[in-house]
Amino acid sequence: MATAKVLFLALISLVALQQALVNASFASDMKCTWGKDNCQINGDSAKLILNQWSGAAIKGTDQLIYGYIDMRIKLVPGNSAAVVTTYYTTSEMNKENDNHDEIDFEFLGNLTGNGNYYTLHTNIFVNGVGNKEEQFRMSWYDPTTDYHNYTIFWNPYMVVWSVDGNVIRVFRNYEDQGIPFPKYRPQRVYSSIWNADDWACQGGRVKTNWTQQPFVANYLNFVDNGCQYTGTNSILTCNDPSNWFFNSQYKQLTQPQLNTMNSIRNQYLVYNYCTDTKRFNGNFPPECFKSQY
Ligand SMILES: *[C@@H]1O[C@H](CO)[C@@H](O)[C@H](O)[C@H]1NC(C)=O
Ligand SMILES: *[C@@H]1O[C@H](CO)[C@@H](O)[C@H](O)[C@H]1NC(C)=O
Ligand SMILES: *[C@@H]1O[C@H](CO)[C@@H](O)[C@H](O)[C@H]1NC(C)=O
Repeated sequence: MATAKVLFLALISLVALQQALVNASFASDMKCTWGKDNCQINGDSAKLILNQWSGAAIKGTDQLIYGYIDMRIKLVPGNSAAVVTTYYTTSEMNKENDNHDEIDFEFLGNLTGNGNYYTLHTNIFVNGVGNKEEQFRMSWYDPTTDYHNYTIFWNPYMVVWSVDGNVIRVFRNYEDQGIPFPKYRPQRVYSSIWNADDWACQGGRVKTNWTQQPFVANYLNFVDNGCQYTGTNSILTCNDPSNWFFNSQYKQLTQPQLNTMNSIRNQYLVYNYCTDTKRFNGNFPPECFKSQY
């Protein structure tokens, strides 16, 4: 009995492990797309460097419709004002007719001291339309002294942003009520570091201090696991309910997840487009009236 149970548990964790380890490496599944020596991939770690001459960017080789992308990032320490580190998924851009889908994390650097925390910026684009920003003050942990997990998960029910396994934001699928949801376009993961001193730090007032260069973001443990896009047929197969991410356990957050999320949002959410009356002049996007959890 006891052995059977142990065996059973071992089997379960093996399955979970194999699923989680699908394509788990920066070296095998990410490529440098910008930065020459400023972009360094080494086994299952990576370094993106910003200096006066260049930033850096990496791009995933897999294209997914649904699933999750997870990596551990240690952000630029010290004075990182106006240094922006991005981590996002997006479908291909079509410049003439922008209908892309995109799910974003962006880390906006800051000065040190005096409550100058990093800002964690999130957004989602569906059919080329974004304008769904939420921002958090990153003061519940120091994102620069150690690695922290950042996860993007999306399935037919919802898009979920998590930090260290704690959900911070959800965008639910209300497609049946006319609110577009990312279901049809394969997305790839990207990450980059760049200088955004025209806007990123305290509204552009604080510039990048180049005496602090190089600015280095460190990465570990890339994992992606989802429905691989192999051609237009994948739109159907990935939307087939036999896929693991259709499982009822992924339909909704659990109560503990919800509690943690609410606690983080209550304390650290500093911008929510759904409460920005001035910007939308009272005409909030329709999802602002829907429950997201
Ligand atoms: C930096 O810190 C200031 C507080 O001093 C804050 O207003 C700002 O939102 C923080 N983040 C960025 C990216 O400027
Ligand atoms: C963070 O990532 C590591 C490596 O992939 C993993 O072992 C760990 O379980 C993750 N932790 C959380 C809280 O997601
Ligand atoms: C840049 O950083 C150096 C070293 O900390 C400091 O002496 C200098 O005043 C900073 N420059 C600006 C413009 O803040």
